[in-house]
Amino acid sequence: MKNSDNLIPVGVIGSGAMGSGIAQVAAMAGHEVFLFDTNPAALKKSQTSLQQVLDKLQAKGKIADATSVFHRIHFVKELQALQSSGLIIEAIVEQLAVKQEVFSALEAVVSEDCILATNTSSLSVTSIASACKNPARVSGLHFFNPAPVMALVEIIPAIQTDAALPEKLRQLMLSWGKSPVIAKDTPGFIVNRVARPFYGEALRIYEEGLADMATIDWAMTSLGGFRMGPFALMDYIGHDVNFVVTETVFRSFFYDDRYKPSFAQKRLLEAGWLGRKSGRGFYNYQEGATHPEPVQDADLGKMILERILVMLINEAVDALHWNIAAKEDIERAMTKGVNYPKGLLQWCDEMGADYVLSVLDGLYRHYHEPRYRASALLRRMAATRQQFFGE
Ligand code: NAI
Repeated sequence: MKNSDNLIPVGVIGSGAMGSGIAQVAAMAGHEVFLFDTNPAALKKSQTSLQQVLDKLQAKGKIADATSVFHRIHFVKELQALQSSGLIIEAIVEQLAVKQEVFSALEAVVSEDCILATNTSSLSVTSIASACKNPARVSGLHFFNPAPVMALVEIIPAIQTDAALPEKLRQLMLSWGKSPVIAKDTPGFIVNRVARPFYGEALRIYEEGLADMATIDWAMTSLGGFRMGPFALMDYIGHDVNFVVTETVFRSFFYDDRYKPSFAQKRLLEAGWLGRKSGRGFYNYQEGATHPEPVQDADLGKMILERILVMLINEAVDALHWNIAAKEDIERAMTKGVNYPKGLLQWCDEMGADYVLSVLDGLYRHYHEPRYRASALLRRMAATRQQFFGE
């Protein structure tokens, strides 16, 4: 990609949490940005908050001139205003029919060589692309929340996507200071697939009564080095969002037992205990409320950490087995997208594939559930004593 191509005008559709963040990133990278939303109140809110955010960044010395960045963002009320865009990033409501309608309408507005990208986190990019006359120009471009802070961007070519497009988008994302990875169009892409056991296995341990949530959170943070424990993180994300992603991934994998949602989390959702945002989730966030103390038992902590970790490693190894992404991209996705303390394949190398396999096989023997089946690749790595990053 030529340097001048890098400064193509960028259209962003949807000025909610993600669209606003993406517009900010593109404008900070020097692009003229056209931010469109059907809801004038959402557009106004985005305008006000972007101005404040950019002013703060200038005050902190992170950008030189907030005004010129802000003036590069045009808040527009007509789709037609996106006609000069060389790249459009859609970040509207997560509903296939609505996204397909927008993509189909877009083709009548933009030039033939305009790239059309979707920020979907759980829909099939292929099915979104199918709404276009020219689906070869469509790709997934999945940012993480908050988009200006999180470095990871997953690039997801649909099966119809032009073969040269992923690399073009990768170069563009690098020019925006992002860490791009390329993932196959399969449910959850990399992060939302590989991370599932962080929540799912923690919930399982909790539901079986093997440990309480505070102890599980303590084991994962103090012993595992994760920034947040699973229960504190689910409360932070919000159970409405986290449960729906789990349910969608489960359904999209044709009800694979590995991704099965939990009743404990479903009940929270039904009670309206959505997490921090509603004042109560697994933990109580109301004023004066106290959080339960963990049982800081080293043996129990090791059992919890190992069980969740081997499930995460197995998921990462299986993603590699199914060619979802290159091994370096799987590592980058988990460290840059969800801040894991290290890549899961590297973790597997350090623990030894044979040890990881022995823990998993132990769980499988105990439960006899397909959830605990080891990836064929993990079995092969253990048998041949190979390392993912060894010589
Ligand atoms: P949001 O609800 O904050 O914003 C969506 C915006 O789209 C709203 O302002 C709404 O008025 C607008 N909109 C709805 N239909 C529209 C249409 N037909 N044309 C133009 N504008 C329309 O949603 P959020 O969280 O920003 O998510 C947007 C997309 O990004 C979804 O596909 C979501 O799955 C994905 N995503 C969300 C992440 C998150 O953590 N919130 C992370 C990564 C991806």
